[in-house]
Amino acid sequence: MKIRYNYLSQEFENTKNIFFEWKKLIKTTDFTLGHKVEEFEKKIGKFLNIKYIISTNNGTDALKLSLKSIGIKNGDEVITVCNSFYASAGAIVALGARPVFIDCDDRFQMNYNLISNAINNKTKAIMPVHWGGASPDMDKITKIAKKYNLKVIEDACMGIGGNILGKSPGSFGDISAFSMHPLKSLNVMGDGGFVGTNNKSIFNWLKKYRNHGMIDRDRISFWGENFRLQPLQAVVALNQLKKLKKVIKIRNNNAKYLDKQLSALYPNVKIPPRPRGFKETFALYMANFSKRNELRSYLLKRGVETKIHYPIPLHLQKASKKFNYKKKDFPVAEKQSKSLITIPVHQYLDMKHMQYISNLIRKFYEK
Ligand SMILES: Cc1ncc(COP(=O)(O)O)c(C=O)c1O
Repeated sequence: MKIRYNYLSQEFENTKNIFFEWKKLIKTTDFTLGHKVEEFEKKIGKFLNIKYIISTNNGTDALKLSLKSIGIKNGDEVITVCNSFYASAGAIVALGARPVFIDCDDRFQMNYNLISNAINNKTKAIMPVHWGGASPDMDKITKIAKKYNLKVIEDACMGIGGNILGKSPGSFGDISAFSMHPLKSLNVMGDGGFVGTNNKSIFNWLKKYRNHGMIDRDRISFWGENFRLQPLQAVVALNQLKKLKKVIKIRNNNAKYLDKQLSALYPNVKIPPRPRGFKETFALYMANFSKRNELRSYLLKRGVETKIHYPIPLHLQKASKKFNYKKKDFPVAEKQSKSLITIPVHQYLDMKHMQYISNLIRKFYEK
């Protein structure tokens, strides 16, 4: 059996609806912002229960815009996790600020107990990441932020379709960033993203800043930039949004089955705890495995592709040298980076695939 990690050829096998909508859009020549972008912003805001959405050309720009909108600048510090995609820290660095890393917990999420120690007089914000499509304890994090008068920017780039005790990732903090990169739960045919906020004045500023600071064609109120989502991608996003609930349901079913089978293989396999009421998107199904590299080769030889997110934590990347971190600074993330594997549980897989994967893993440890 062949189980591929990347499912995009299946996802976009049937493009009839998208092409139909593209043809209609092309006739209107609404190519910069316009009615399709507005329709997407309205619908995704409703889906996430976030008042204001500003779509952008990718998730990294959504993060940069979020940071900028709350005034993050040169010399400021933003607390974030050391186990994330490069963009979480990269967006902070792009604004001239310093990412201050903290360790994660056994769920691969920000360990809120470590936040207070990382705060000093340069700290302006906390950026929790909904890593892998699971979520940190946002209630605890927002309470700490309130105590120290800090802003919360959620990196919810992997969080679209998740749910924490009835609320969407990205609806807890002052502002949040989402990605619609091709391998996210809501994906476009290229790059796409958006910012979400319930704060009207942040929204008004962002809406202008995304589009050169323009009031209208002839006037600007301040110097802005161009961060606009392409309307062709807004059409794709609207099409994908219709399928999102089903996608999340399939991924959750697949993950549940794997959790059950693999937890019997403890201590060779360590599944992260899944707190009650936290529904994940399973952008990444991650667990820790002994003999990680041998297991990955064993699976690959039998047709199962896997990934590692990521083998080197952010603080140990060459790019972080100037921040003076060293090995053992964040022991939990460092240990996990040596044993974690991401297993495909996407919407084009079902129980027979999950059975195949879990049987292989069991056989590997029985050898
Ligand atoms: C946690 C996280 N933050 C930020 C990003 C950046 O998003 P994008 O690739 O759309 O720029 C990604 C996705 O790749 C991500 O997974």
